[in-house]
Amino acid sequence: MKKTLKPLIIGNWKLTPNTLDEAKKRYLETAKAHAKYKSTVDVVVCPPASFIAPLSLLKKSKTVSVGAQNVSFWTTGSKTGEISASQVRSCGATCSIVGHSERRALGETDEVVAEKVAEVVKCGMTAVVCIGETERDEEGAYLEVIKAQIKKGLARISKQEIHRVVIAYEPVWAIGRTDNVAITSHDLHQMAIFIHKYLKEIFGMAGDLIRIIYGGSVTPENAFDLYQNGGVSGFLPGRSSWDAKTFEGIFSGVSLALKEIKKATKIQSRQNTKTKVHKRK
Ligand code: PGA
Repeated sequence: MKKTLKPLIIGNWKLTPNTLDEAKKRYLETAKAHAKYKSTVDVVVCPPASFIAPLSLLKKSKTVSVGAQNVSFWTTGSKTGEISASQVRSCGATCSIVGHSERRALGETDEVVAEKVAEVVKCGMTAVVCIGETERDEEGAYLEVIKAQIKKGLARISKQEIHRVVIAYEPVWAIGRTDNVAITSHDLHQMAIFIHKYLKEIFGMAGDLIRIIYGGSVTPENAFDLYQNGGVSGFLPGRSSWDAKTFEGIFSGVSLALKEIKKATKIQSRQNTKTKVHKRK
């Protein structure tokens, strides 16, 4: 599945940086770093909402897109402090993260996530829907948590709209770890298979169009292994996207892993052809 989809790396800037000048500098450095990887990986940064418009203006011929970290499910009216999907869209956002665990911790339910996903898609953006268990239990109850988040969060999305959805698997226990301990690539692969299977159960073949990316302490050190062996189509790093050099380390890890995957696929298909010819004889 992921072999046919260009890797997607989305930087979640969270509540950083402090000023617009710093945001512009970080954006330009990121765009420069991405220039040599633009044919191999797609990159998006999601700054705080107030920086979306100025960074989108900087974009011009640059290849790094700008997204939102959150949108309101309200569309208009007396809703002080809310920012709608169509407003961030009109400021240049091409996608929005929805249902990040840091928002779920503030009370965002799966039902609210579903409303937001529908709104983001309706406005012509991609919804990056975050799912992930808070902890893992031996009995596997966390798998039911994942299923419920997918089912409820995508409840208002049709098969025709599903190509506008990216699933970001972000186990809460792996996010923001000071020791940078992410999931193992083996466990991630198992989870990617599980999520794909469930998406196909709901959306049929259209489920194949959904990219699954991983977030939770992704670093330049683990990006290669997580991409090569994790069965995902990209990453949603937080802290590692706040410094262009570090972020570039992730582009580089993914590009190298992609080369290895392509090499292995070629060898495999050559072997398959040989076996077929051999059998015919
Ligand atoms: P982290 O954050 O990479 O800093 O762990 C990921 C996220 O919260 O999306």
